[in-house]
Amino acid sequence: MTDVAVIILAAGQGTRMKSSRPKMLHSVAGRTMLAHALHAAAGVAKNNIVAVVGHGRDQVVPAIEDETPKLNQVFGTERVLTAVQEEQNGTGHAVACGLEELDRAHGGAFEGTVVVTTSDVPMLNADTLRDLLTEHTTSPRASVTVLTATIASPTGYGRIVRTSDGEVTSIVEEKDADEAQKAITEINSGVYAFDAALLRSAVGQLDTNNAQGEFYLTDVIGIARSNDKVVRAHRIDDAHLIAGVNDRVQLAAIAKEFNRRLCEKAMRGGATLIDPDTTFIDVEVEIGQDVLIQPGTQLRGCTSIGNNCEIGPDTTLIDMEVHDGASVVRTHGSLSVIGKDATVGPYTFIRPGTELGERGKLGGFVEAKNAQIGRGSKVPHLTYIGDATVGEESNIGASSVFVNYDGVNKHRTTIGSYVRTGSDTMFIAPVTVGDGAYSGAGTVIRDDVPAGALAVSGGPQRNIEGWVEKKRPGTPAADAAKKAQEKTES
Ligand code: UD1
Ligand code: CA
Repeated sequence: MTDVAVIILAAGQGTRMKSSRPKMLHSVAGRTMLAHALHAAAGVAKNNIVAVVGHGRDQVVPAIEDETPKLNQVFGTERVLTAVQEEQNGTGHAVACGLEELDRAHGGAFEGTVVVTTSDVPMLNADTLRDLLTEHTTSPRASVTVLTATIASPTGYGRIVRTSDGEVTSIVEEKDADEAQKAITEINSGVYAFDAALLRSAVGQLDTNNAQGEFYLTDVIGIARSNDKVVRAHRIDDAHLIAGVNDRVQLAAIAKEFNRRLCEKAMRGGATLIDPDTTFIDVEVEIGQDVLIQPGTQLRGCTSIGNNCEIGPDTTLIDMEVHDGASVVRTHGSLSVIGKDATVGPYTFIRPGTELGERGKLGGFVEAKNAQIGRGSKVPHLTYIGDATVGEESNIGASSVFVNYDGVNKHRTTIGSYVRTGSDTMFIAPVTVGDGAYSGAGTVIRDDVPAGALAVSGGPQRNIEGWVEKKRPGTPAADAAKKAQEKTES
């Protein structure tokens, strides 16, 4: 197999998005369209990727740099080259800019196959590019192979013009097409494989004699033909794989289709989705077997779910790691770990850095942040636990607060194992509670509690008899108190 390089066209503005963000930085299935293009490219061309940037490149170039470590992890990609197209004079000109950078990086003319893709076809993947390359190199080896599909409403796309015996002769843009050509339903995806030498020579011969006054990459087809080169089309049945996004309506439509496929993949992998229509799964999410996903669940970022978990309803997990057998109900969580057989929810807010141990519990109306909660320990009700370490098999009483912030600095609370704290305990950090210690209800723990001690705070309770009747006469409370008194006296 010859060397493969990919040029990703990403210099256009995407005016119809009506956005201050370049079009390719909008996301589908938890990944920007640009990142989808980079992943597809890296799947076939590891280190020979050139992104042609222009409009909004102050945002686009950093986005490429942000994605590179992930490409490195998955594909071994060390760098993505970028070429700047100062003015957007058309796709042919953009490719010329990309080729120049590719050759520069190779210290001479790149020889091999150059795949050209765009940054607005989010479902295009490495498998499709691989099939295109296979077709391209099938004997007789083609100089150009264009990826096409037949669609019901081809308006806006370039049309594939073929001879009566099916040979591709040219691509005609919508704006340059006559009525007969407009009736053609086979469209140009804007994705191609080219012989590098042919492409280099052909982009040098392009002109701007067309309706848009641009250098059209599509004209390379005609140039190749007139040089007696083999031109081929690789037509795919699944048109979604090459569907482009030009506005936010198309963005939503493609996101919906992408999600439908990701839900299907999860189900084929052994997860039960009660309602795929209200389940949203990002492309990097991993889901185990015998997972039950209830309606209204969003699994985002690089969330992973183990086997035998129950997730939802109405749960959003972002970059979360959920281990086997855990149950997570009506929860919003990010960047945290939920241990094996742990239970969470309902109405639980898990903020970054939380690690709930095996069989642990974060119950209703609990907020956790940067808290390590050991095996079998429970925070069952109405509690804020932040910046804390809890040992094993401890129980935090209802309505407790880990008071971690003094208005200037954050402090940690450390709680041992087999600790039982009473309801409404305030832990004024920094503070340490030893193994097996208890606290009474309503205790304000300001000082360390030794192992095995009972902590209580506040003096003995005082009842000031008759206070309400004396100080709040005529109120409903005073009347009720008076009636109760009369009852006891009679
Ligand atoms: C292009 C094709 C059309 C095809 C369609 C598929 C041409 C002339 N037409 O049309 O046949 O059906 O894609 O979606 O190639 N870009 C640059 N620099 C430029 C111009 C464009 O980088 O100077 C980039 C854009 O950012 C985009 C891609 O190239 O990613 C396609 O450009 P766009 O203007 O969307 O082309 P279409 O009119 O859709
Ligand atoms: Ca387009």
